Amino acid sequence: MTFDAAVIGCGRMGAFTSPAVQRFAPPCWMPLAHAEAIRRHPSLVLQALSDVDPAALRRAAEAYGVARTFEDPRRLIEEVRPDLLGVATRTIGRAEILLRGVACGVRAFHAEKPLCNSMHELLELEAAFAPGDRFLTYGTIRRFLAPYRLAVEIARSGRYGALLEVQVNLGRGALYWTHPHSVDLLLFATGGAAVESVSARLSNVVIGEAACIVESDPVIESATVLFAGGIEGRITRTPGCDVVLACEQGQVIVEADGREVVTYVPAGDDAYCHRAPVAVGQSAPAGTLAPVSHLVECMQGDPHAVRLNESTRRDVFMGQRILFGLLQSQARGGREVALAELAGDWVIRARSGGRHA
Ligand SMILES: NC(=O)c1ccc[n+]([C@@H]2O[C@H](COP(=O)([O-])OP(=O)(O)OC[C@H]3O[C@@H](n4cnc5c(N)ncnc54)[C@H](O)[C@@H]3O)[C@@H](O)[C@H]2O)c1
Repeated sequence: MTFDAAVIGCGRMGAFTSPAVQRFAPPCWMPLAHAEAIRRHPSLVLQALSDVDPAALRRAAEAYGVARTFEDPRRLIEEVRPDLLGVATRTIGRAEILLRGVACGVRAFHAEKPLCNSMHELLELEAAFAPGDRFLTYGTIRRFLAPYRLAVEIARSGRYGALLEVQVNLGRGALYWTHPHSVDLLLFATGGAAVESVSARLSNVVIGEAACIVESDPVIESATVLFAGGIEGRITRTPGCDVVLACEQGQVIVEADGREVVTYVPAGDDAYCHRAPVAVGQSAPAGTLAPVSHLVECMQGDPHAVRLNESTRRDVFMGQRILFGLLQSQARGGREVALAELAGDWVIRARSGGRHA
Protein backbone atom coordinates (compact mmCIF):
# COMPACT_ATOMS: atom_id res chain seq x y z
CA MET A 1 0.00 0.00 0.00
CA THR A 2 1.30 3.47 -0.81
CA PHE A 3 0.39 6.87 0.63
CA ASP A 4 0.09 10.18 -1.22
CA ALA A 5 2.50 12.87 -0.07
CA ALA A 6 3.05 16.55 -0.82
CA VAL A 7 5.46 19.29 0.19
CA ILE A 8 4.66 22.96 0.80
CA GLY A 9 7.70 25.26 0.65
CA CYS A 10 10.32 24.27 -1.92
CA GLY A 11 13.42 26.01 -0.57
CA ARG A 12 16.43 24.46 1.15
CA MET A 13 14.54 22.35 3.70
CA GLY A 14 11.70 21.52 1.35
CA ALA A 15 13.57 20.54 -1.79
CA PHE A 16 17.22 21.59 -2.16
CA THR A 17 19.60 20.97 0.73
CA SER A 18 22.16 23.77 0.90
CA PRO A 19 25.58 22.90 -0.56
CA ALA A 20 27.33 23.76 2.74
CA VAL A 21 25.15 21.32 4.67
CA GLN A 22 25.66 18.63 2.01
CA ARG A 23 29.39 19.13 2.24
CA PHE A 24 29.92 19.36 5.99
CA ALA A 25 27.04 17.68 7.85
CA PRO A 26 27.66 14.13 9.14
CA PRO A 27 26.10 11.33 7.05
CA CYS A 28 23.30 10.78 9.63
CA TRP A 29 21.71 14.05 8.40
CA MET A 30 21.03 12.92 4.84
CA PRO A 31 18.63 13.00 3.07
CA LEU A 32 17.60 16.29 4.66
CA ALA A 33 15.12 17.91 2.24
CA HIS A 34 11.50 16.84 2.73
CA ALA A 35 10.91 16.06 -0.95
CA GLU A 36 14.06 13.96 -1.17
CA ALA A 37 13.17 11.97 1.96
CA ILE A 38 9.65 11.36 0.67
CA ARG A 39 10.95 10.29 -2.74
CA ARG A 40 13.24 7.73 -1.09
CA HIS A 41 10.46 6.07 0.93
CA PRO A 42 9.01 3.04 -0.89
CA SER A 43 5.51 3.56 0.55
CA LEU A 44 5.20 7.24 -0.38
CA VAL A 45 4.40 8.87 -3.71
CA LEU A 46 5.25 12.56 -4.02
CA GLN A 47 2.09 13.78 -5.74
CA ALA A 48 2.27 17.57 -5.43
CA LEU A 49 4.36 20.59 -4.53
CA SER A 50 3.54 24.15 -3.50
CA ASP A 51 5.53 27.35 -3.25
CA VAL A 52 4.39 30.97 -3.35
CA ASP A 53 7.47 31.68 -5.48
CA PRO A 54 6.75 30.38 -9.02
CA ALA A 55 10.47 30.04 -9.88
CA ALA A 56 11.16 27.89 -6.79
CA LEU A 57 8.08 25.82 -7.56
CA ARG A 58 9.10 25.23 -11.20
CA ARG A 59 12.63 24.28 -10.21
CA ALA A 60 11.45 21.74 -7.63
CA ALA A 61 8.78 20.31 -9.93
CA GLU A 62 11.42 19.69 -12.60
CA ALA A 63 13.95 18.22 -10.16
CA TYR A 64 11.44 15.81 -8.61
CA GLY A 65 9.32 15.13 -11.73
CA VAL A 66 6.10 16.28 -10.04
CA ALA A 67 3.24 17.38 -12.30
CA ARG A 68 0.80 18.88 -9.80
CA THR A 69 2.02 22.27 -8.59
CA PHE A 70 0.26 25.00 -6.63
CA GLU A 71 1.29 28.55 -5.83
CA ASP A 72 -1.47 28.64 -3.21
CA PRO A 73 -0.81 26.06 -0.47
CA ARG A 74 -4.47 26.01 0.51
CA ARG A 75 -5.42 24.79 -2.96
CA LEU A 76 -2.89 21.97 -2.74
CA ILE A 77 -4.34 20.82 0.58
CA GLU A 78 -7.94 21.07 -0.57
CA GLU A 79 -7.49 19.52 -4.04
CA VAL A 80 -4.79 16.89 -3.39
CA ARG A 81 -5.73 15.98 0.20
CA PRO A 82 -2.45 14.11 0.73
CA ASP A 83 -2.02 11.49 3.46
CA LEU A 84 1.34 13.00 4.44
CA LEU A 85 2.32 16.65 4.18
CA GLY A 86 5.80 18.17 4.51
CA VAL A 87 5.64 21.84 5.58
CA ALA A 88 8.92 23.60 4.88
CA THR A 89 7.84 27.22 4.56
CA ARG A 90 9.27 29.93 6.80
CA THR A 91 7.43 30.04 10.15
CA ILE A 92 4.96 32.81 9.36
CA GLY A 93 1.84 31.12 7.98
CA ARG A 94 2.91 27.61 9.03
CA ALA A 95 0.23 27.27 11.72
CA GLU A 96 -2.47 28.17 9.21
CA ILE A 97 -1.19 25.49 6.79
CA LEU A 98 -1.14 22.85 9.52
CA LEU A 99 -4.62 23.75 10.72
CA ARG A 100 -5.95 23.65 7.16
CA GLY A 101 -4.30 20.25 6.69
CA VAL A 102 -5.94 18.88 9.83
CA ALA A 103 -9.31 20.25 8.72
CA CYS A 104 -8.94 18.61 5.29
CA GLY A 105 -8.05 15.16 6.64
CA VAL A 106 -4.24 15.07 6.22
CA ARG A 107 -3.15 12.25 8.53
CA ALA A 108 0.56 12.91 9.00
CA PHE A 109 2.68 16.06 9.02
CA HIS A 110 6.40 16.70 9.00
CA ALA A 111 6.62 20.40 9.87
CA GLU A 112 9.77 22.49 9.95
CA LYS A 113 10.78 24.22 13.12
CA PRO A 114 9.79 26.55 14.78
CA LEU A 115 6.13 25.54 14.99
CA CYS A 116 4.41 28.92 15.04
CA ASN A 117 4.70 32.63 15.86
CA SER A 118 2.24 33.19 18.69
CA MET A 119 0.90 31.63 21.86
CA HIS A 120 -2.54 31.89 20.28
CA GLU A 121 -1.44 29.74 17.30
CA LEU A 122 0.19 27.27 19.67
CA LEU A 123 -3.06 26.79 21.59
CA GLU A 124 -4.99 26.35 18.31
CA LEU A 125 -2.51 23.71 17.11
CA GLU A 126 -2.58 21.84 20.43
CA ALA A 127 -6.38 21.72 20.23
CA ALA A 128 -6.32 20.57 16.58
CA PHE A 129 -3.96 17.68 17.35
CA ALA A 130 -5.57 16.78 20.70
CA PRO A 131 -7.91 14.09 19.34
CA GLY A 132 -4.77 12.03 18.69
CA ASP A 133 -5.68 10.77 15.21
CA ARG A 134 -3.12 13.01 13.40
CA PHE A 135 0.58 12.31 13.50
CA LEU A 136 3.22 14.98 13.72
CA THR A 137 7.01 15.18 13.50
CA TYR A 138 9.13 18.27 13.50
CA GLY A 139 12.31 19.61 11.88
CA THR A 140 14.22 18.97 15.13
CA ILE A 141 15.21 15.59 13.72
CA ARG A 142 18.12 14.70 16.02
CA ARG A 143 15.75 12.71 18.25
CA PHE A 144 15.25 10.33 15.30
CA LEU A 145 18.94 9.96 14.42
CA ALA A 146 20.96 6.93 15.53
CA PRO A 147 23.81 8.75 17.38
CA TYR A 148 21.41 10.76 19.56
CA ARG A 149 19.13 7.78 20.25
CA LEU A 150 22.10 5.70 21.31
CA ALA A 151 23.59 8.41 23.54
CA VAL A 152 20.29 9.03 25.31
CA GLU A 153 19.73 5.29 25.74
CA ILE A 154 23.15 4.92 27.41
CA ALA A 155 22.74 8.00 29.60
CA ARG A 156 19.32 6.89 30.79
CA SER A 157 20.28 3.23 31.30
CA GLY A 158 21.67 3.88 34.78
CA ARG A 159 25.04 2.40 33.79
CA TYR A 160 26.76 5.62 34.86
CA GLY A 161 24.21 6.56 37.54
CA ALA A 162 21.31 8.96 37.17
CA LEU A 163 21.23 11.64 34.49
CA LEU A 164 21.94 15.00 36.17
CA GLU A 165 22.48 17.58 33.43
CA VAL A 166 22.06 17.98 29.70
CA GLN A 167 24.14 20.63 28.00
CA VAL A 168 23.45 21.61 24.39
CA ASN A 169 26.35 23.41 22.72
CA LEU A 170 25.12 24.62 19.34
CA GLY A 171 27.07 27.89 19.56
CA ARG A 172 25.75 31.43 20.04
CA GLY A 173 22.51 31.14 18.10
CA ALA A 174 19.08 32.66 17.74
CA LEU A 175 16.01 31.54 19.65
CA TYR A 176 13.94 30.71 16.56
CA TRP A 177 16.56 29.83 13.98
CA THR A 178 18.82 27.57 16.10
CA HIS A 179 17.39 26.77 19.47
CA PRO A 180 14.19 24.86 18.71
CA HIS A 181 16.81 22.12 18.20
CA SER A 182 18.36 22.71 21.63
CA VAL A 183 15.05 22.72 23.44
CA ASP A 184 13.94 19.55 21.68
CA LEU A 185 17.19 17.82 22.62
CA LEU A 186 16.57 18.69 26.28
CA LEU A 187 13.06 17.25 26.08
CA PHE A 188 14.22 14.15 24.24
CA ALA A 189 17.07 13.48 26.67
CA THR A 190 14.88 13.87 29.73
CA GLY A 191 12.23 11.50 28.33
CA GLY A 192 9.01 13.12 29.40
CA ALA A 193 10.09 14.57 32.78
CA ALA A 194 7.85 17.52 33.67
CA VAL A 195 9.30 20.99 33.08
CA GLU A 196 9.37 22.90 36.37
CA SER A 197 10.66 26.25 35.18
CA VAL A 198 12.69 28.00 32.50
CA SER A 199 14.96 31.03 32.61
CA ALA A 200 17.00 32.89 30.03
CA ARG A 201 19.23 35.82 29.24
CA LEU A 202 18.68 36.99 25.68
CA SER A 203 20.19 39.73 23.53
CA ASN A 204 18.97 41.39 20.33
CA VAL A 205 15.42 41.59 21.62
CA VAL A 206 13.62 44.13 19.41
CA ILE A 207 10.15 44.88 20.72
CA GLY A 208 7.35 45.67 18.25
CA GLU A 209 4.15 47.67 18.60
CA ALA A 210 3.43 46.17 22.05
CA ALA A 211 5.64 44.84 24.85
CA CYS A 212 4.54 41.26 24.13
CA ILE A 213 5.47 41.43 20.42
CA VAL A 214 9.05 40.61 19.50
CA GLU A 215 10.16 41.58 16.01
CA SER A 216 13.67 40.12 16.03
CA ASP A 217 15.03 36.63 16.50
CA PRO A 218 16.78 37.11 19.88
CA VAL A 219 20.12 35.49 20.65
CA ILE A 220 20.26 33.10 23.61
CA GLU A 221 23.20 34.10 25.80
CA SER A 222 22.23 31.50 28.38
CA ALA A 223 19.15 29.46 29.14
CA THR A 224 18.19 26.86 31.72
CA VAL A 225 15.30 24.44 31.80
CA LEU A 226 14.67 22.73 35.15
CA PHE A 227 12.97 19.36 35.06
CA ALA A 228 11.16 17.45 37.79
CA GLY A 229 13.56 15.08 39.50
CA GLY A 230 16.30 17.69 39.47
CA ILE A 231 17.67 17.28 35.94
CA GLU A 232 19.00 20.59 34.66
CA GLY A 233 19.02 21.39 30.94
CA ARG A 234 21.36 24.11 29.74
CA ILE A 235 21.64 25.90 26.41
CA THR A 236 25.09 27.41 26.07
CA ARG A 237 27.04 29.56 23.62
CA THR A 238 29.76 26.93 23.37
CA PRO A 239 30.54 26.09 19.73
CA GLY A 240 31.04 22.62 18.28
CA CYS A 241 27.50 21.23 18.09
CA ASP A 242 28.06 18.77 20.94
CA VAL A 243 25.41 17.47 23.32
CA VAL A 244 26.72 16.48 26.75
CA LEU A 245 24.66 14.11 28.87
CA ALA A 246 26.18 14.27 32.35
CA CYS A 247 25.42 11.37 34.68
CA GLU A 248 26.51 10.81 38.29
CA GLN A 249 29.58 8.79 37.27
CA GLY A 250 30.46 10.03 33.81
CA GLN A 251 29.38 11.69 30.60
CA VAL A 252 27.96 10.54 27.28
CA ILE A 253 28.67 13.02 24.50
CA VAL A 254 27.34 13.31 20.97
CA GLU A 255 30.09 15.19 19.17
CA ALA A 256 29.95 17.47 16.13
CA ASP A 257 26.28 17.09 15.23
CA GLY A 258 26.39 13.30 15.42
CA ARG A 259 29.77 12.57 13.85
CA GLU A 260 30.70 10.50 16.89
CA VAL A 261 29.34 9.27 20.24
CA VAL A 262 31.84 8.99 23.09
CA THR A 263 31.73 8.15 26.76
CA TYR A 264 33.92 9.98 29.24
CA VAL A 265 34.00 7.76 32.33
CA PRO A 266 36.42 6.52 35.01
CA ALA A 267 38.24 3.24 34.34
CA GLY A 268 38.74 0.76 37.19
CA ASP A 269 40.39 2.35 40.24
CA ASP A 270 41.37 5.45 38.27
CA ALA A 271 38.91 8.18 39.23
CA TYR A 272 39.85 10.33 36.24
CA CYS A 273 37.59 10.07 33.21
CA HIS A 274 38.77 8.50 29.97
CA ARG A 275 37.32 9.11 26.55
CA ALA A 276 36.11 6.09 24.58
CA PRO A 277 34.19 6.05 21.28
CA VAL A 278 30.94 4.07 21.09
CA ALA A 279 30.03 2.27 17.85
CA VAL A 280 26.81 3.60 16.29
CA GLY A 281 24.86 1.16 14.11
CA GLN A 282 23.98 2.53 10.67
CA SER A 283 20.91 0.43 9.85
CA ALA A 284 18.22 2.95 10.91
CA PRO A 285 16.90 5.49 8.37
CA ALA A 286 18.82 8.77 8.49
CA GLY A 287 18.05 12.44 7.94
CA THR A 288 14.47 13.49 7.34
CA LEU A 289 13.80 9.97 6.09
CA ALA A 290 13.86 8.92 9.77
CA PRO A 291 10.84 10.97 10.95
CA VAL A 292 9.08 10.41 7.61
CA SER A 293 9.51 6.61 8.02
CA HIS A 294 8.13 6.93 11.54
CA LEU A 295 5.07 8.77 10.19
CA VAL A 296 4.48 6.01 7.63
CA GLU A 297 4.62 3.42 10.42
CA CYS A 298 2.05 5.48 12.33
CA MET A 299 -0.26 5.55 9.28
CA GLN A 300 0.21 1.79 8.91
CA GLY A 301 -1.08 1.41 12.48
CA ASP A 302 2.13 0.19 14.14
CA PRO A 303 1.20 0.52 17.85
CA HIS A 304 4.77 1.22 18.96
CA ALA A 305 5.07 4.07 16.43
CA VAL A 306 1.65 5.46 17.37
CA ARG A 307 2.68 5.56 21.05
CA LEU A 308 6.02 7.14 20.20
CA ASN A 309 4.25 9.83 18.20
CA GLU A 310 2.17 10.76 21.23
CA SER A 311 5.34 11.68 23.11
CA THR A 312 6.80 13.34 20.00
CA ARG A 313 3.72 15.56 19.62
CA ARG A 314 3.78 16.38 23.32
CA ASP A 315 7.42 17.47 22.98
CA VAL A 316 6.77 19.53 19.82
CA PHE A 317 4.16 21.58 21.68
CA MET A 318 6.18 21.68 24.91
CA GLY A 319 9.27 22.79 22.99
CA GLN A 320 7.36 25.70 21.47
CA ARG A 321 5.96 26.58 24.91
CA ILE A 322 9.51 26.64 26.30
CA LEU A 323 10.61 29.06 23.55
CA PHE A 324 7.84 31.42 24.66
CA GLY A 325 8.86 30.80 28.28
CA LEU A 326 12.44 31.86 27.53
CA LEU A 327 11.17 35.08 25.95
CA GLN A 328 8.98 35.80 28.94
CA SER A 329 11.82 35.08 31.36
CA GLN A 330 13.96 37.65 29.56
CA ALA A 331 11.10 40.14 29.83
CA ARG A 332 11.09 39.53 33.62
CA GLY A 333 14.79 40.20 34.00
CA GLY A 334 15.88 36.58 33.55
CA ARG A 335 13.74 35.25 36.40
CA GLU A 336 12.55 31.65 36.48
CA VAL A 337 9.17 31.25 34.80
CA ALA A 338 6.79 28.32 35.33
CA LEU A 339 5.20 27.34 32.03
CA ALA A 340 1.73 27.28 33.61
CA GLU A 341 1.98 31.04 34.17
CA LEU A 342 2.85 32.00 30.56
CA ALA A 343 0.90 34.95 29.23
CA GLY A 344 -1.19 34.04 26.20
CA ASP A 345 -0.70 37.19 24.12
CA TRP A 346 2.94 36.78 23.09
CA VAL A 347 3.99 36.98 19.46
CA ILE A 348 7.43 36.59 17.94
CA ARG A 349 8.05 37.43 14.29
CA ALA A 350 11.71 36.36 14.45
CA ARG A 351 13.06 38.61 11.71
CA SER A 352 16.79 38.67 10.91
CA GLY A 353 17.66 41.17 8.22
CA GLY A 354 14.97 40.89 5.57
CA ARG A 355 14.01 37.28 6.36
CA HIS A 356 11.95 35.51 8.99
CA ALA A 357 13.07 32.30 10.72
N1 LIG B 1 15.45 21.39 10.48
C1 LIG B 1 16.54 22.10 10.27
O1 LIG B 1 17.66 21.71 10.64
C2 LIG B 1 16.42 23.42 9.58
C3 LIG B 1 17.51 24.01 8.95
C4 LIG B 1 17.32 25.23 8.29
C5 LIG B 1 16.07 25.83 8.32
N2 LIG B 1 15.02 25.23 8.98
C6 LIG B 1 13.68 25.85 9.02
O2 LIG B 1 13.01 25.46 7.83
C7 LIG B 1 12.17 26.53 7.37
C8 LIG B 1 12.51 26.78 5.91
O3 LIG B 1 13.86 27.20 5.85
P1 LIG B 1 14.63 27.23 4.46
O4 LIG B 1 16.04 27.51 4.78
O5 LIG B 1 14.26 26.04 3.65
O6 LIG B 1 13.94 28.52 3.82
P2 LIG B 1 13.87 28.92 2.28
O7 LIG B 1 13.63 30.37 2.27
O8 LIG B 1 15.05 28.35 1.56
O9 LIG B 1 12.57 28.15 1.76
C9 LIG B 1 11.27 28.46 2.17
C10 LIG B 1 10.38 28.34 0.93
O10 LIG B 1 9.02 28.40 1.37
C11 LIG B 1 8.32 29.25 0.45
N3 LIG B 1 7.13 29.75 1.16
C12 LIG B 1 7.11 30.68 2.16
N4 LIG B 1 5.84 30.83 2.60
C13 LIG B 1 5.07 29.96 1.88
C14 LIG B 1 3.69 29.65 1.90
N5 LIG B 1 2.83 30.23 2.74
N6 LIG B 1 3.24 28.71 1.03
C15 LIG B 1 4.09 28.09 0.17
N7 LIG B 1 5.41 28.38 0.10
C16 LIG B 1 5.89 29.28 0.96
C17 LIG B 1 9.32 30.31 0.03
O11 LIG B 1 8.95 30.91 -1.20
C18 LIG B 1 10.60 29.47 -0.07
O12 LIG B 1 10.78 28.94 -1.37
C19 LIG B 1 12.45 27.72 8.28
O13 LIG B 1 11.38 27.90 9.17
C20 LIG B 1 13.71 27.36 9.04
O14 LIG B 1 13.68 27.82 10.38
C21 LIG B 1 15.18 24.05 9.58
